[in-house]
Amino acid sequence: MAKGFFISKAVAVAFVVAAAGAVATIIALSVVYAQEKSRNEPTAPVTAAPNTSTTVSTTTSGPKEPWQRYRLPDSLAPVSYNVTLWPRLKPNADGLFIYTGNSTVVFRCVKETDLIIIHSNKLNLTTFEDKHAKLNGLNGATAPALKTTWLETPTQYLVIQLKSRLQAGSSYELFTEFVGELSDDLGGFYRSEYEEDGVEKVVATTQMQPTDARKAFPCFDEPAMKAVFHMTLIHPQGTVALSNAMNHDPVNITVDGQDLIQTRFQPTEIMSTYLLAFIVCDFSYIRSDPAAKTLIRIWARRKATEEGQGDYALQKTGPILTFFEGYYNSSYPLDKSDQIALPDFSAGAMENWGLITYRETSLLYDPAVSSNGDKEWVATVISHELAHMWFGNLVTMRWWNDLWLNEGFATYVSYLGVNYTEPTWNMRDLIVMNEILGVMAVDALASSHPLSSKEEDVLRPEHINELFDSITYSKGAAVLRMLSEFITETVFSKGLHTYLEEFKYKNTVYTDLWKHLQMAVNDNSIKLPQPVEVIMNRWILQMGFPVVTINTQTGKITQKHFLLDPDSTVDRPSEFNYEWYVPITWINTGRIEKQHWLLEKEEVNKDIILGAGEWLVANINMTGFYRVNYDSENWDRLLAKLSSKHEDIPVINRAQIIDDAFNLARAKMVNTTLALRTTKFLHKDVEYMPWQTASHNLNYFFLMFDRSEVYGPMQAYLKKQVTPLFDYFKGLTLNWTRIPEKHTDQYNQVNAISLACRTGVEACNSLTTGWFKEWMENPDNNTISPNLKSTVYCSAIAAGGKKEWDFAWSMYKNATIATEANKLMYALSCTKEPWLLNRYLKYCLDPNEIRKQDASSTMVSIAKNPIGQPLAWDFIRANWGRIFNDYGGGSLSFGRLIDGVTKRFSTEFEYKQLLQFKEDNAEQLGSAATSLEQALERTKANINWVALNKEQVFEWFNNEASSPV
Ligand SMILES: *[C@@H]1O[C@H](CO)[C@@H](O)[C@H](O)[C@H]1NC(C)=O
Ligand SMILES: *[C@@H]1O[C@H](CO)[C@@H](O)[C@H](O)[C@H]1NC(C)=O
Ligand SMILES: *[C@@H]1O[C@H](CO)[C@@H](O)[C@H](O)[C@H]1NC(C)=O
Ligand SMILES: *[C@@H]1O[C@H](CO)[C@@H](O)[C@H](O)[C@H]1NC(C)=O
Ligand SMILES: [Zn+2]
Repeated sequence: MAKGFFISKAVAVAFVVAAAGAVATIIALSVVYAQEKSRNEPTAPVTAAPNTSTTVSTTTSGPKEPWQRYRLPDSLAPVSYNVTLWPRLKPNADGLFIYTGNSTVVFRCVKETDLIIIHSNKLNLTTFEDKHAKLNGLNGATAPALKTTWLETPTQYLVIQLKSRLQAGSSYELFTEFVGELSDDLGGFYRSEYEEDGVEKVVATTQMQPTDARKAFPCFDEPAMKAVFHMTLIHPQGTVALSNAMNHDPVNITVDGQDLIQTRFQPTEIMSTYLLAFIVCDFSYIRSDPAAKTLIRIWARRKATEEGQGDYALQKTGPILTFFEGYYNSSYPLDKSDQIALPDFSAGAMENWGLITYRETSLLYDPAVSSNGDKEWVATVISHELAHMWFGNLVTMRWWNDLWLNEGFATYVSYLGVNYTEPTWNMRDLIVMNEILGVMAVDALASSHPLSSKEEDVLRPEHINELFDSITYSKGAAVLRMLSEFITETVFSKGLHTYLEEFKYKNTVYTDLWKHLQMAVNDNSIKLPQPVEVIMNRWILQMGFPVVTINTQTGKITQKHFLLDPDSTVDRPSEFNYEWYVPITWINTGRIEKQHWLLEKEEVNKDIILGAGEWLVANINMTGFYRVNYDSENWDRLLAKLSSKHEDIPVINRAQIIDDAFNLARAKMVNTTLALRTTKFLHKDVEYMPWQTASHNLNYFFLMFDRSEVYGPMQAYLKKQVTPLFDYFKGLTLNWTRIPEKHTDQYNQVNAISLACRTGVEACNSLTTGWFKEWMENPDNNTISPNLKSTVYCSAIAAGGKKEWDFAWSMYKNATIATEANKLMYALSCTKEPWLLNRYLKYCLDPNEIRKQDASSTMVSIAKNPIGQPLAWDFIRANWGRIFNDYGGGSLSFGRLIDGVTKRFSTEFEYKQLLQFKEDNAEQLGSAATSLEQALERTKANINWVALNKEQVFEWFNNEASSPV
């Protein structure tokens, strides 16, 4: 699956805004933090479900019966399935959408047994003489008679006890017939609804990963239980049926007097159940040139296809497939690649083999309304999913505990795939911004967890689901990138090739990959201090990462587990004592690259001892997953270098220096003023990465100080820093008439405008207000560049009053494109008029004005505004009962609401208010309870931080604001 699985839709939107705008990492992080934290709380021990059925003769080693265990026994192995499904796209008399179907699974008996256990969840199985299935022997084998059958709900099994044993080596077939609900729960076989030309339409589609194939039909639903699938779909006239494999010609059939179509599909390759997909819809498609080797089709709502929204995806899919064929040195394993955009979809996308499903925003791109960030997202998600066609689909992890390898790998190589097809975007650098810096903040918490889990620790579906987090995706990508860098990319891809060759159509554990990479390392005489596996174990079996301290006076290099909160305690032991094998690279004054493998806690390397006036910067291009601290002399020299000629330090490292310094300051390893000093050179830098990192990190300062006397000097300092950047973009865009050519310039233009307007650069405010005014005068012709919309709307509404607000509100009400509506919804929270903010808050609880799904994110946006903050807090307290009762049904995340509204809390007074709130609402906190505890904890930490830093920060900004550039 593509990332975006572990963040809900609203957060995903906020995240995209954050990536393009100037919202702090710390903010985005604490959302992730909240999730990570709750994820790591111990869960109650699993108690075996009471078993009411008769006991079996099969002996079991543990106290539990086989059907009470979450893993299938190893006595049976599926070979092939023959599945027919008939989804009804109209509700039945009870108002339910259902499907009917049947399945025959051929399986081989590997170990003699009198028990058949197969997954089945939420299906209504037909009984034949009281039994839920029929069994036949194949090739002369005799099928034992069924003794009893039942559904074991907790473990999601259909259990069949036999009167005699299945014989090892013999094959059998099991037939089931069932009715399932085509519900709108986004799992298994489900329905998605949308409106087109005033007509309500229904799509029947699937999302199996990780454990919902069993909800579509009875199956051996584990990734290692690979089989061949023969699918048949029955569907209404006027619709089309799609599945993993290519279809045969559809035929007309009549069932119960209804004229229908039956579409049969060619047998699939040998594959895992979680990669199955089948869809019935009336979408249209565009396709690749018939002469092309692989048929590529992009499916979407007819309107979207007509408008050309799939064109970009079609253009990019072919080249990305070509790239991966070269990278893996292995041809695309299938004969077609369908990709489809669905109106309702839970993840970002899903790599079903041959039929990839996407959320619309992850596949469709409309240059007239979408930003370059939207475009990058589409390219990245496509690349991620196509990478899985080999890594994940052709060769599959044996069990979910290795999910990090599957997802971390796809995340890493997705950047290579996009670089190939969009070489000017610098995607190889952007991985640092998009994945690595963010996950370092999560992994620096004492509550983090290792990448790799033990197979036996991941059994229940909810535990499997919890693995889809930022550690799995982003840290997985970061450590694989590090590995690929130190063994070189060529050797890395050679290892991948032999790995894919050996294990195609099979399953692996992560050590199989290490083995092949080691072979490639040996064949190419790459020198490593330890075998690949030994080095990598330290990165994947223990959580966190080191901070490496380099002393350029003594040559000493030391490492230590980096914790963002130095007072937190790590209660998770590590067999490696939180020490790593660290590949350290650096460049020095002469810009010569050097490297050192740090294998101990402390080592000395004379090469890092510097002469007078010399400097060095370590972790070139941030290829290593660690932070770097230096002796104060080198810090001073680095800062001097940044001030005199920042181009001598690679752009990624300019961002790294800022991010490391701010994080080291949070961890009390350097002074906060040192961190602030790393932003001084920015008035001369125009690159996106350093600016973006600084603005992320400074956002915490805004949160803590934008209601205090520090605010004035802080604004003055930042205004001074950003003015040259604003002027630079004015020149680059010929007085704002052009879109910058460079991808990262397009991003940084957004930073320039949003920071300049926010810190009161005159020209900025007149610019955005002017654009907005033009739009108001001509509402049908919005000429504001899609990249800039969010920030322009926000600053124009902040500078304006009722007229601007009401105009934006009416545009919001009329918006037909979700991304446009989201941008307006966010911008409406930027006004500085308290009465408008209060009215907007009221709208939040009126579903006719703001849809329920958007209520909490809107209240959170209002609270982000320093003027809206106290209003939102008062409003939520005053209306908590109503919020809790009306919005309790899952449409609103209380946790996110509490988290968002209390971000600024940093005084004893606010702490007491929070405590009071907790006391007053003890009975009705629901899912907010955890967030409330975290908010209390965070408020305490903020109080301490402010007490420790306020004075020096105030003084520093004061001095800087008044000193010349
Ligand atoms: C199936 O039925 C439709 C509509 O009734 C008709 O247009 C079509 O030609 C038929 N197809 C075949 C293969 O008979
Ligand atoms: C990015 O892709 C281009 C080709 O499209 C290639 O020449 C270049 O080497 C790639 N960059 C990296 C760093 O791999
Ligand atoms: C660091 O990244 C830049 C591009 O961003 C690249 O030109 C340079 O070669 C990289 N340096 C090393 C040592 O990989
Ligand atoms: C931009 O506008 C200013 C006046 O507002 C003008 O002096 C300047 O020549 C313009 N520059 C370009 C490149 O059009
Ligand atoms: Zn994925």
